[in-house]
Amino acid sequence: MKTLVLDKTQIDTAANILKNGGVVGIPTETVYGLAADALNGEAVAKIFKAKGRPMDNPLIVHIADFSDITRFDLVSEIPESAKALAEAFWPGPLTMIMKRTDVVPKEVSAGLDTVAVRFPAHPVAQAVIKAADTPLAAPSANLSGSPSPTTARHVLNDMDGRIDAVLDGGSSEVGVESTVITLAAEVPRVLRPGGITVEMLREVLGEVEVDDAVLHRLKDGVQAASPGMKYKHYAPKANVILLKGDDKAFISYVNAHAGDEVCALCCDEDLLELSVKTLSLGRRNDYLTQARYLFDCLRRIDENGTVKTVYSRLPSTKGVGLAVYNRLIRAAGFEVIDLEAL
Ligand code: TXA
Ligand code: MG
Repeated sequence: MKTLVLDKTQIDTAANILKNGGVVGIPTETVYGLAADALNGEAVAKIFKAKGRPMDNPLIVHIADFSDITRFDLVSEIPESAKALAEAFWPGPLTMIMKRTDVVPKEVSAGLDTVAVRFPAHPVAQAVIKAADTPLAAPSANLSGSPSPTTARHVLNDMDGRIDAVLDGGSSEVGVESTVITLAAEVPRVLRPGGITVEMLREVLGEVEVDDAVLHRLKDGVQAASPGMKYKHYAPKANVILLKGDDKAFISYVNAHAGDEVCALCCDEDLLELSVKTLSLGRRNDYLTQARYLFDCLRRIDENGTVKTVYSRLPSTKGVGLAVYNRLIRAAGFEVIDLEAL
């Protein structure tokens, strides 16, 4: 299949492909999504095929207005907490999980009795959803397991020839996927951290839990609340190793392991002192910038071709730092060296 490359003057072309059951890569403010008509099970199945995604991993349904939830009859009941969160953070990088109706195809919910809903802030995403006149199911537009795409170029690198079209809307500003919160549990619980921080959610809802799988590897036999959390994810081909320790310990460990096949994923402040190839995520305490460039950096590691080992500092878990931590620790397959314990 030939993949068309569309620009934002061609929203109607993208919408027509979607109405006819096709799959289109679309920009959102978090990452690019691989979209299909969420109410058409056959169309949604094509997403799984293009990504090589396990069928037990459910998809997020994207809408272009809060009222779309009732208009398309997606959930059996809208909890008060959802209204409060929508008021505060929609449109934006927040996905809410609620009890679904039977309108949601089994391909979308992957056998769960819930559905994840998001109203993205990106004007091109909103325009496509409106023009297609249907909610769009969309996972991140990467091959399953790879870093998520934040540009149309990234999408083409993974999906050229596998999808009908990609719509170029520039680089994604947030850079990591949306925060996923379940409102179907007794206490609202964050299943995946993202642009809307746990601190921000607590300000609106009061009590909010953070799922164990956000920071830790799931123990064998424990079922993931969010099926996507159980897979190794976001990983470049090179081996990512996280180092826990202060700046000095990080720099001296990396320099002691220097070589042509080594690269450091670091902060601007470390650049002058490292004697290996470097990729900087931004300034040390600028978590928003680190989130924005994380996936681009993870993709660039492999472009070089020679890098086999990547050392990265264990990021902060504060604010949006928690989202960066969550993605990096998965990219590293939970491999952390504690420099203080050496
Ligand atoms: O920012 C985003 O959320 C992007 C853009 C395209 O909107 N989408 C995205 O989708 O990241 P995806 O499929 O890559 O990640 C969705 C995550 C997965 O971990 C999935 O298991 C979880 O949300 N999820 C989806 N529906 C769920 C449900 N009903 N219950 C629990 N987890 C769910
Ligand atoms: Mg994904």
